[in-house]
Amino acid sequence: MTALRLLLVPALLCALQVSLCNAACAEVDSDTEAVVGQGFKLGCISCKMRGEVEGSATVDWFFRAKGESDYVHIYNYEDETPTIVDERFEDRVDWNGSKKTTDIQDASIYILNVTFNDTGTYRCLFNRVLTYPYYEFQTKAIKYIQLSVVAKATRGTASIVSEVMMYVSIIGLQLWLLVEMIYCYRKIAAAGDEALRESAAEYLAIASESKDNCAGVQVAE
Ligand SMILES: *[C@@H]1O[C@H](CO)[C@@H](O)[C@H](O)[C@H]1NC(C)=O
Ligand SMILES: *[C@@H]1O[C@H](CO)[C@@H](O)[C@H](O)[C@H]1NC(C)=O
Ligand SMILES: *[C@@H]1O[C@H](CO)[C@@H](O)[C@H](O)[C@H]1NC(C)=O
Repeated sequence: MTALRLLLVPALLCALQVSLCNAACAEVDSDTEAVVGQGFKLGCISCKMRGEVEGSATVDWFFRAKGESDYVHIYNYEDETPTIVDERFEDRVDWNGSKKTTDIQDASIYILNVTFNDTGTYRCLFNRVLTYPYYEFQTKAIKYIQLSVVAKATRGTASIVSEVMMYVSIIGLQLWLLVEMIYCYRKIAAAGDEALRESAAEYLAIASESKDNCAGVQVAE
C-alpha cells in the first residue's frame, strides 16, 4: 500500500509540474501554512504583462500580525535591491522572486525560521512600469496571504484525497475477489465432491484444477 502511494504521489506531482511548465507564467496561489522553525515561501506572482517588454518593478510587502488592525511595511524590493524594513524580520527574509533584472513577474519572498509571531496576513504590492517605445504603462497587483503557523506539518488535501481513493479502489478490488471466490466455491460445490471442500488447502487445489470451469479466481484474470 505504501508502494502504491509512492507511485501515486510523483504521478500527481508530475501532472502538476507539466501544467506549470507549459505556461510561461502561472499565478499559483501561495501556500498558507508554515511550520515553526522552518522556512516559508510567501508567493506573489503577477502575470498580467508579457515578459518581453522592458520594465521595472517595485515590490512592497506588508504584514498585519494576528490580533492587530494595521498593516506594517516589512519589505521593499526596488532596483534589484531588497530591503527588510521591519526589525521583526531582520536577517530572516530572502528574495525568492524573479532573478531576471527586467520585468519581474514573481515577487515572492522567503521567511527563514518561522515563529508563531509570524501568524497573520501578508499583503504583497506589486508595482510594475513597462517601457514601450513611446509610452510607459503602469500596472499594479495586490495579493493577500493569510498565514497560519503550526507546530507540525498537517497533510495537504490532495494527499488525503489520493489516499482515500487508494483505499476505495483496494476495498473494491477485494470485494470483487470475494464475490468471484464465493461464486467459484458455489460452482465447485454444485459439482459435488463434498469431502474435499472441508479444508482450505484442498479447496485451493480444486480451484486451480477446475480452472476451465471457473477462471475467475485467478487474479491475473
Ligand atoms: C528561496 O530562498 C531560500 C532561502 O534563501 C532558498 O533556500 C531557496 O532555494 C529559494 N528558492 C527559490 C525558488 O529561489
Ligand atoms: C530559530 O529561532 C529560534 C527561536 O527564535 C532559535 O532558537 C533558533 O536558533 C533559530 N534557528 C535558526 C536556524 O536560526
Ligand atoms: C513573539 O512576540 C512576543 C511579544 O511581542 C515576544 O515577547 C516574543 O519574544 C516573540 N517571539 C519570537 C520567537 O519572536
